[in-house]
Amino acid sequence: MLILITGVSRGLGRALADWYIAHGHTVVGCARSGTEIFDLRFTYSEPHSFESLDVTEAIKVEIWSERVLGTHGVPDLLINNAAVVNEPAPLWTVPVQEFSKLIDINIKGVSNTIRAFVPHMIGRGSGLVVNISSGWGRSVSAGMAPYCASKYAIEGLTKALSEELPDPLAAVPLNPGIIDTAMLRKCWKDGAAQYPSPKDWAERAAPFILSLDRRSNGKSLSVPE
Ligand SMILES: NC(=O)c1ccc[n+]([C@@H]2O[C@H](COP(=O)([O-])OP(=O)(O)OC[C@H]3O[C@@H](n4cnc5c(N)ncnc54)[C@H](OP(=O)(O)O)[C@@H]3O)[C@@H](O)[C@H]2O)c1
Repeated sequence: MLILITGVSRGLGRALADWYIAHGHTVVGCARSGTEIFDLRFTYSEPHSFESLDVTEAIKVEIWSERVLGTHGVPDLLINNAAVVNEPAPLWTVPVQEFSKLIDINIKGVSNTIRAFVPHMIGRGSGLVVNISSGWGRSVSAGMAPYCASKYAIEGLTKALSEELPDPLAAVPLNPGIIDTAMLRKCWKDGAAQYPSPKDWAERAAPFILSLDRRSNGKSLSVPE
């Protein structure tokens, strides 16, 4: 299977990439950090492919997709995982630029990869889009308003997309659960340590994602505990 993952440099994206490659799939991924992308390229040679790319840059995403489609073909599975979280703070104190950047990454970045890859999935007649949501896309906490807004948006965006996709394609908003990553540590500091590592999480999440199909289309799902 050809699996495309955004936000592959660390955390859940990296753990999914490691698991899928270990289980015989081809992974194409991106993230902004050049150092981690270099590390991935060094660790995993072709046919896997990793690009230093910011998902907010729609034109670069388009150029990247043309390269991926030309060398690898159409992805079977598109996992929109890249996201950022705001510095926990009351909404009225969140700087304009921070809010704007978060929306650009967490919502518009997702639509950029969908615009670039989904028409080709439709053309081929198969494909699954998994947009990583959050518990904070279904309930809220003080201090997290921008992030909650972006993940509620991911739920709505994905459900609307699911009604647009022709059978047998499918789109699923997926809450990963709570995992000890750099993102969680930004929210909860050392409290994050009580949660599973990305590697342990991927043992449950990666096969669960592979089990999704049209029957899951538009459903708000969570990775099983
Ligand atoms: N950890 C949790 O408990 C938890 C809970 C609920 C939902 N989630 C969701 O799970 C997903 C992964 O989160 P995580 O915990 O693994 O976070 P993380 O450790 O901070 O990783 C986020 C990834 O996204 C990439 N990224 C961020 N902005 C990007 C951009 N503009 N373009 C391309 N890549 C970008 C980062 O790489 P660069 O910085 O190198 O670009 C990194 O690889 C996110 O959608 C998050 O909202 C996580």
